[in-house]
Amino acid sequence: MQLIDGKKISLLLQEQIAKEVKELIAAEKKQPHLAAILVGNDGGSETYVAAKIKACENVGFKSTLIKHPDYVTEEKLLQSVIDLNNNPDIDGFIVQLPLPRHINEHKIIETILPSKDVDGFHPINVGRMVLNLPCYVSATPFGIVQLLEKYNIETKGKHCVVLGRSHIVGSPMSILLAKNTALGNCTVTLCHSKTENLIEHTRKADIIICALGSPEFLKADMVKDGAVVIDVGTTRVESTETKSGFKLKGDVKFDEVAPKCSFITPVPGGVGPMTIASLIKNTLLAAKKEIYR
Ligand code: GUN
Repeated sequence: MQLIDGKKISLLLQEQIAKEVKELIAAEKKQPHLAAILVGNDGGSETYVAAKIKACENVGFKSTLIKHPDYVTEEKLLQSVIDLNNNPDIDGFIVQLPLPRHINEHKIIETILPSKDVDGFHPINVGRMVLNLPCYVSATPFGIVQLLEKYNIETKGKHCVVLGRSHIVGSPMSILLAKNTALGNCTVTLCHSKTENLIEHTRKADIIICALGSPEFLKADMVKDGAVVIDVGTTRVESTETKSGFKLKGDVKFDEVAPKCSFITPVPGGVGPMTIASLIKNTLLAAKKEIYR
């Protein structure tokens, strides 16, 4: 069994990006600038956004954090998005999800300019991704594809089972892996809460992408010997073992599944850091106007 070290690969990618930023600045080009909008004080969202801002510092990007209370009106939040759309210094920005229930998430995302939507959540970017056109690919699926590539994990002709059909992970992941591209060509089964006999699917999978947000869902008897297991789960659970009082739990019962795998990602230190590296990479593409001119 080989552990997939997402933290290491993420830092390597960030080093490469930092080098490119130095070159841009030496050539008197604009310093890339990422903004993040954070609504409310959900602990998980605060941690993720702080990590994204820290990564900007690491690579030499400018960053701006815009915070709103959880009672912010939809109108005010939309205005925040429009201001960032119109700000020429901002290359790309994200609105951290989930948003409070009184806010229409789709309306917010559809207001982001596709050329600044470095999360790749806007319908234009999703549609372009499906059609193999230049676009921002959403950060978590993009990070997973890069991990598979770095570890030379063959996808062509393999049977991949994706667990979970979220717009952020499961659904785009299933599309990327099925594409007729070097990092695709999988036969994909997308499983969700209404799937019957789930175990019959997972037991046949060469690659399992577990993105349910259900701690320790995937057990050893659900996995065949030699499978590749990618754990996207990051549920915060209370813990007396950490200073913060929380720890992250993945969707995979790691101790019993890992010995059966050829490759597996840990939580933390697997997919999470790659999401951040991919967002940074998308922001660099935005600053260089490589996707939208
Ligand atoms: N919430 C969970 N993952 C993400 C992400 O990749 N981007 C944003 N904006 N919100 C998220």
